[in-house]
This record gives sequence, C-alpha cells and structure tokens, in this order.
Amino acid sequence: MTPSSTAVAHPNIALIKYWGKRDDRLILPATSSLSLTLDVHPTTTTVALAEADSASLDGAPMTGDALERVVRFLDLVRELAGSEARASVVSTNAGPTAAGLASSASGFAALAAAAAHAYGLDLDERALSRLARRGSGSASRSIYPGFAQWHAGSDDESSFAEPVEAPGIDAAMVVAVVDGGPKHVSSRAAMRETVRTSPFFAAWIDSSAVDLADLRAALAAGDLPAVGDVAERNAMRMHATMLGAEPPVRYLSPASVAVLDRVRQLRAEGVGAWATMDAGPNVKVLTDRADAERVRAAVAELGVTSSLLVAGSGPGVAVREGAVA
Ligand code: PMV
Repeated sequence: MTPSSTAVAHPNIALIKYWGKRDDRLILPATSSLSLTLDVHPTTTTVALAEADSASLDGAPMTGDALERVVRFLDLVRELAGSEARASVVSTNAGPTAAGLASSASGFAALAAAAAHAYGLDLDERALSRLARRGSGSASRSIYPGFAQWHAGSDDESSFAEPVEAPGIDAAMVVAVVDGGPKHVSSRAAMRETVRTSPFFAAWIDSSAVDLADLRAALAAGDLPAVGDVAERNAMRMHATMLGAEPPVRYLSPASVAVLDRVRQLRAEGVGAWATMDAGPNVKVLTDRADAERVRAAVAELGVTSSLLVAGSGPGVAVREGAVA
C-alpha cells in the first residue's frame, strides 16, 4: 500500500450510448457502448489512507448520497485488497459536475485508479475498467485514450471496455454548453424509469446492436461521415426511448434544439458535423479537427451557449504516487 496516490482521468462522450442496466448492483448494461475520450475537463483525484473515510469535491466536503457512493466504492476496493484501511478522497473537476458532460466518467475512472494504487492493487487495464464500471458505467471507458468500446458482457468478469482503432480519423468534438447547471434527473434514475416504463426500450436494444456494428465498420474504414451519421441517429434514438417513459424523461431544451438544427444546416452547407447529447441539454458536435473552428463559430453565432470549446481525442487514465502538488 502507498500512503497516497493521484490519478487524472478525462471524460468520454459516447457515440453509441449506454442507456439502461440489466443489473443495477453490478452495473451491467443492457447494451454495449462506444465512446471517444476527450482532452478537456479532466478530474484529478488523490486517495490517501486515513483514520476515517472522507471525500471532497472542488474543495467542498461531500455529504449525503454523493459521499455514500464514494464510500461504497472504497468498500469494493477494500474487499479486493483485503484491507480495512479508511481513506480520504480529494477530487477536483476541471469541468462542470453532473451537467451531462461526463463528470461521473472522469470522476470514477480517476477514483478507481487512485484507490487501486493506494490500496496496493496491481490491476491491468481490463480489471481497472471493470472496477471503474462499478462506480459509474461510463467510467469503464475513460480508462482508455481515444475510442473505446464497453462490452455489455453477461457478468462482472465479462463487462469491461477496450480500445478501438480508428485509422485515419482525426476527430474533434465541439462541446456546446447551453446550461452548465446540474441536471434535473440523474442518469441513474432516468435509466431506471426508461427500462421500467418505456415501451420503446426493447426496440432501443435491437437498434443499438445494429448501430454498434455500423459504427465499428465506419471506424475501421476511417469513414468519419459514416461515424457521424450513426452517432447522431443513436443519440436521437436514446432520447426518443426516454421520451417514451412515463413520466417522460426530457433533457432536450429549446437551446439544444437550436444547436441540433444548426448542425443539420451545416451538413446541408457541406460541412461534416454531427450532434450527440447525453443526460443533459448540452450538445456535443462531432467533426473533423480541420472543420472544428468553423463549426464552433457557427454554433457561437446562435447566441444560446454559455461556453463553447473544441476538444480533441484525449489520453487514458494516468496515476502517480503522492498527493497533487
Ligand atoms: O455512467 P452514467 O451512469 O453517468 O451514465 C451515462 C449515460 C450517458 O452519458 C447518457 C450515455 C453514455 O454512454 O455515456
């Protein structure tokens, strides 16, 4: 065991979405998913063995459910390590938290790596991906740089992410923040209600498998327009599925729709741009890195965004001994 370890992880944005669990406790998803890790908004987390469990985020002590979730995660790590030691967790997010910008993905990927290291666990990437999954499903993918697929699997052992090659693709994501505040429904609760009440959920599972196969083929062929078409249709189908829940889960806002319309218009103008959205109103626009500035400027002109940044493909999780300097 090392007295303290620090890990840095980046968010990832799914092109084929994870939406719905088949096992809530183990966080086994109903479908496989595939994402791009970004080079913006990292989470930095230090885990230090301590007298008692504690956690802070961006300088404020965590309490209630958020703290509970961290402690439950530490319990898992302790079980794996055969340790009773308590720990302090100090985390900072460079981006907004819980706003549909994948802070839980970077957060639990960083926590998994820092905690595993602090407790002396020697995990390979696959084992680390499985561990991160137990904190937040999408965190399983943030272990890797670039594109990564989370295989749904059928049990704890077989549900992990792996890197995916995409030769010749130089992708960027224009992250259009239309509302940086926390989401009104957590993805966890929204997924549960979608699985329980949306009559479209079975169709989502079927179409997701087709989307994934099409995306894999497009990535392997280095065909960004085909990647973009599949990603946009998959995101719209995810939102359609949750709109079918009772009561409906709706993350789209008028500002989101304005961005979606502008993206469609950009394509009509001959610019390769494709939208995706997660559990929040913000829109991420996939494009070639060479077109990113033009896309950013076009979205900026709408006047509906509070922040707009261009992200590229980012690194996998990195860990080092010691607290953050
Ligand atoms: O990992 P969670 O529980 O934050 O769920 C993430 C869900 C989406 O971001 C909407 C989709 C995805 O695959 O990342």
